[in-house]
Amino acid sequence: MDSLIHHGCTAPDTSGATRPALIVERLCVGHPELGTFIDDVSLEIAPGEVLALVGESGGGKSLTALSLMRLLPRGFEVTSGAIRLGSDDLLAKTERELNAIRGRRIAMLFQHPQSMLDPTSTAGAQIAEPLRLHLGMSRRQAARRVVELLREVGISEPEYRARNYPFQLSGGMAQRVLIAAALGGNPDVLIADEPTTALDVTIQVQILKLLHRERRERGLAVLLITHDLAVVSALADRVAVMYAGRIVEQGSSAQILQRPRHPYTQALVESSLLRGRPGGDAAGDYGGDSGGDSPSRLESGRDAGPAIRGGLQGAGTCRKQVDAHGRGDRGVSD
Ligand SMILES: Nc1ncnc2c1ncn2[C@@H]1O[C@H](COP(=O)(O)OP(=O)(O)OP(=O)(O)O)[C@@H](O)[C@H]1O
Ligand SMILES: [Mg+2]
Repeated sequence: MDSLIHHGCTAPDTSGATRPALIVERLCVGHPELGTFIDDVSLEIAPGEVLALVGESGGGKSLTALSLMRLLPRGFEVTSGAIRLGSDDLLAKTERELNAIRGRRIAMLFQHPQSMLDPTSTAGAQIAEPLRLHLGMSRRQAARRVVELLREVGISEPEYRARNYPFQLSGGMAQRVLIAAALGGNPDVLIADEPTTALDVTIQVQILKLLHRERRERGLAVLLITHDLAVVSALADRVAVMYAGRIVEQGSSAQILQRPRHPYTQALVESSLLRGRPGGDAAGDYGGDSGGDSPSRLESGRDAGPAIRGGLQGAGTCRKQVDAHGRGDRGVSD
């Protein structure tokens, strides 16, 4: 896939004074009963840049994404840190203000797309909604754009599919409808949580090319959550590696994939290479689990700890600690 999309070479130059599209500063997320789940996470994404967030299952990638959308599950809260979208402080926004921002300036593709479509409304209506709401399109303009977007995400017979209800769509088609809806509002930032995992390889390539085009042509900033280092290698400029609620390593894609420094990253890259990736056979296994044999290799790592089941215990960097009632195994120590 590397040969299909050449990351970095055609993206806008973000080295100058460009203001980052999204800044996450020392974010901590916790639950009053379960403890701390995200500990001191800092990220930055420039316009036109793709930052991949990779890491073990249960490590906190989706919770991080949901905090950025201010859509955390019930009981979870941001306990400290800052989230800036352009010049806006997202943590200071009211729900009403957030409703105007979500979908228009920051959009998200959720990890489990099946539950995200409204079963009572057609695919076309769901894609048209943000177009009308956020971009002020007329019904007719939106209908035309819906067909274009469906075609862009690789859906054949788009006019027909636009009239389908979710139960009439395959899982892969439902995912592509959601991608069309997310891109339709022309957001500045897209958070894509495992966007291609459920898709056939040819469709994956098409979606990755589409994301690449969006970032190159309109400066879309992408936070790409994935287990797949081949996808990282194909699309990401930089990579942040998350382990047990923390970013343990961050660097350029080349550095992370070729010269990983943290033991967890080393194990991740090694297990991926054992399976013939990254940059391996595009027809390989795309739904892989990042975990592999890594935990035993991590025992010696300074920051490495066991996978968290409850919150992190004793995580020291969060300003406002939430009570942790003993479901975690062992905290990550500094
Ligand atoms: N709604 C919830 N209620 C309770 N715990 C939750 C909830 N959502 C997530 N968690 C817990 O938070 C931790 C981080 O979960 P998260 O979904 O962010 O992991 P992830 O890195 O996205 O994993 P995966 O790669 O499997 O998607 C896990 O221990 C998980 O069990
Ligand atoms: Mg997840």
